[in-house]
Amino acid sequence: MSTVSSTGVLVTLEQAHGSIMIFTWIVFASTGILFARYGRLLHFGEKRKILGADVWFQFHRAILIVAAVTTLTGFILVLAKGDNETVSKNRDKNRLTAHSILGYIIVASVLVQVAMGLFRCGPQSPSRYIFNRIHRAVGIIAFTFSIPAIFLVASVLQNNTTGLMVILALWTGWVVILVIILEIIKHRCQATSAEKTEATQPSKFNTLKLFLFLANFLVALSLAIPLIVILWQQ
Ligand code: HEM
Ligand code: HEM
Repeated sequence: MSTVSSTGVLVTLEQAHGSIMIFTWIVFASTGILFARYGRLLHFGEKRKILGADVWFQFHRAILIVAAVTTLTGFILVLAKGDNETVSKNRDKNRLTAHSILGYIIVASVLVQVAMGLFRCGPQSPSRYIFNRIHRAVGIIAFTFSIPAIFLVASVLQNNTTGLMVILALWTGWVVILVIILEIIKHRCQATSAEKTEATQPSKFNTLKLFLFLANFLVALSLAIPLIVILWQQ
């Protein structure tokens, strides 16, 4: 049912699957998770709330619901391709199987995350810590797995594999550096606001975080786009 692309390494549905997954996990997921982990005290000028809820929460919920919808769309696209002998040859089956296993874990995590997020108990409930811990662990695992999942499939592609590997290595390196910087800021921020009664953060940290979130968005976008372009050349 699916058409083989010009060079025949990937079918169109696989390219569409890869493109949507790359965009979702590099651009959307990283942005949405950053807001939940490091953006809790964010404010725009005096504003700490948008439409009645905290800035971080509105961004986190909206971006990750979109990410969930696009992940499921990407999943349906790869299921729709069916078994195609022409494109299965010349491929490393083990790496593709490993990719599929990580992929299934990510798709399952997304369903669990959204269900958990929507049906969570209130912030004051004594059981709330269960949601917080499980939701955090599952979210971080899904995001972490997305990196090897993309690496594995990129390593079996034939056109410009070096380009794909360099871009993915840059993405991995950027995520590690960004997390280290933001963890340091978070630690310093906690030390400063511990002396205050209200949970606010000094405006220099607020500006720095907003700058880093924007930088992440731009880095993610400028790495995801060439990855997708190379994918369509397979
Ligand atoms: C984090 C992002 C990704 C997720 C969550 C994901 C998820 C999945 C899943 C669940 C499957 C198994 C489907 C089945 O059993 O038929 C799969 C297969 C596949 N994915 Fe992905 N994928 C991702 C990224 C990519 C990328 C970037 C590409 C690049 C082309 C890609 C290409 C493929 C291919 C070719 C298959 C078929 C494997 C086979 O025939 O054995 N995926 N993916
Ligand atoms: C694919 C979907 C999602 C992923 C991957 C995800 C991921 C995460 C992660 C990693 C954290 C923890 C950040 C930290 O380390 O502190 C978090 C926190 C949170 N998320 Fe999500 N999330 C998703 C969807 C949702 C949805 C749909 C909602 C609400 C409707 C939601 C509500 C929350 C809340 C309330 C917290 C804070 C929990 C706490 O107080 O520790 N999430 N999310």
